[in-house]
Amino acid sequence: MNTNAFSYLLPGTGSHVASWWNDLFSFVMWISIFFFVLLIGITLAFVYKYHHKKVDKVIDSHGNTSLEILWTIVPTILVLFIFAWGWLVYKKMHRPPAGSFEVRVIGQQWRWKFAYNNGKNTVGELIVPVGKRIKLLMTSEDVIHSFFIPDMRVKQDVVPGLYTALWFEAIKPGEHVIYCSEYCGGLHSNMLATLKVLPQDEWLEWWRTQEKTERDLSIPPEKRGEGLAAKYACMSCHSVDGSSLIGPSFRNLFGRTEKLTSGKSALVDEDYIRNKILKPNSDGVVGYPQVMPSFQGQISEEEIMDIIAFIKSLKD
Ligand code: CUA
Repeated sequence: MNTNAFSYLLPGTGSHVASWWNDLFSFVMWISIFFFVLLIGITLAFVYKYHHKKVDKVIDSHGNTSLEILWTIVPTILVLFIFAWGWLVYKKMHRPPAGSFEVRVIGQQWRWKFAYNNGKNTVGELIVPVGKRIKLLMTSEDVIHSFFIPDMRVKQDVVPGLYTALWFEAIKPGEHVIYCSEYCGGLHSNMLATLKVLPQDEWLEWWRTQEKTERDLSIPPEKRGEGLAAKYACMSCHSVDGSSLIGPSFRNLFGRTEKLTSGKSALVDEDYIRNKILKPNSDGVVGYPQVMPSFQGQISEEEIMDIIAFIKSLKD
């Protein structure tokens, strides 16, 4: 695996993203060393060559155009090159590849909660298989937190009222520290969690064992979502078979683009649905009356996630 001369200055290298950052870091280090040696070398050479015992007359010099152009152009090209490299890695780091394995992350003063697609939930422990792309879909129940796995070189703010995402692919089994890296209140420094990367067979074994907690976790999230949609009476206005009732049907809703009364259009993604549940009439959908009640304060983030899973599952 990728290691380089400066790896010892960095946290462990747990993902491909991490080794891309390592490469950029070592490039910057080598450039710095090269120019340090070059400039100090030239300085020392001049100090020696022109010290007072050797020359008694100082030459009056007023600039050298070609030298000045050179030391403007070379650093400009170098910093632009470093910027472009960083930008490319940042883009790769930021966009979860399609088909990633999704885990939902909820930040709360002062713990990290993880919800998996088969209904498993963990607190303070993110358990993933090695060699799989993991997408984290994250939100907060209270204040802004920041989800940071130094060994994976990924970090992202976790914001109430918004979904943000991260992805990584662990390259070997092991344990890594997860930090909250944004001051979020008195026990911020306790807001640690562990990333456990398991070999695929071990992970599968963990994945299949059932545990009971407050939500019925033997049920997959889209099934729980279906139950919640009934509980909150969503079905009196939204059908699941594609027919329009008072509101748009849930069938094939996720991923569609809706025309809004403000003239804008909006992609129906996780954020859109969450907003509609909490602030339904801020910008209505063309063709439907603005009569949906807000579920702010009545529904938990976990329940919203289950309902989103339900809507996602209604695809032809
Ligand atoms: Cu959560 Cu700091």
